[in-house]
Amino acid sequence: AESPLDIVPVAGRIGAEVRGVRLSGDLDEVTVEAIKRALVRHKVIFFRGQTQLDDAAHEAFAGRLGDPLAHPTVPVAEGSRFLLELNSREGEAASQWHTDITFLPAFPAASILRALVIPAAGGDTLWANGVAAYEGLPPALKALVADLRAVHTNAYDYAVARPEASDEQIRRHREVFASTVYETEHPVVHVHPVTGEKALLLGNFVKNFVGLNREDSSRLFQTLQEHITKPENTVRWRWQPGDVAIWDNRATQHRAIADFGKQKRHLRRATIAGSVPVAIDG
Ligand code: SIN
Repeated sequence: AESPLDIVPVAGRIGAEVRGVRLSGDLDEVTVEAIKRALVRHKVIFFRGQTQLDDAAHEAFAGRLGDPLAHPTVPVAEGSRFLLELNSREGEAASQWHTDITFLPAFPAASILRALVIPAAGGDTLWANGVAAYEGLPPALKALVADLRAVHTNAYDYAVARPEASDEQIRRHREVFASTVYETEHPVVHVHPVTGEKALLLGNFVKNFVGLNREDSSRLFQTLQEHITKPENTVRWRWQPGDVAIWDNRATQHRAIADFGKQKRHLRRATIAGSVPVAIDG
């Protein structure tokens, strides 16, 4: 169907800006449905200038897209019901490629990220298209991943993996982020519940592949991640305060770029619950 939205693609394979919409909990149903269609089609959609969104309106809008999910280990942002605080100190950011909260059996369907304070330069975010990545795999790698399963855990995450992280940063991060350890197995290729597209489901919570030792897992993980995150499969967003990005967490990975030193960078994220992923053969 013709979309009532003004949609302008940002990159060739993923990402589009949606213009002329003022996000709120009171949007009409036709617009909400069009936003959902744009989301699964473009995989990440951007809205500029949404400075009317405070925490309550951000949460109300999130409730229109699905069932909100508070982060399972990180306390909610002050004054909010279920928002995640992403307020950098010492230049830290979620700068390893990941899909949100994949260590849960039913991992999130979508996230809605709102920019409050953005560095004068730096602190962009990248997203990668996991469907284009699967489709672009050579047949031999497609065959290899068809039945493969991966173990995802929050005990092995981007902060720990980050080579430059200090012992103190790792300790603090583990205390909050991995206070309860989750571990779950997912198919490496899953069928998107809305579009039926096949997507690679990986990211930085992967600890190992089932049946492969750490070394082989690590080599294969790196090979697949390189396919997913090659520049042709990505889009990069230069934030302004008031911008909102919504991504289809079932079909993408993302990462922040930690190039902003000690400048302030503050965003808040709402997350929408999803379902247990289904493998190619069911
Ligand atoms: C996130 O991983 O959800 C946050 C990404 C960012 O801070 O740019």
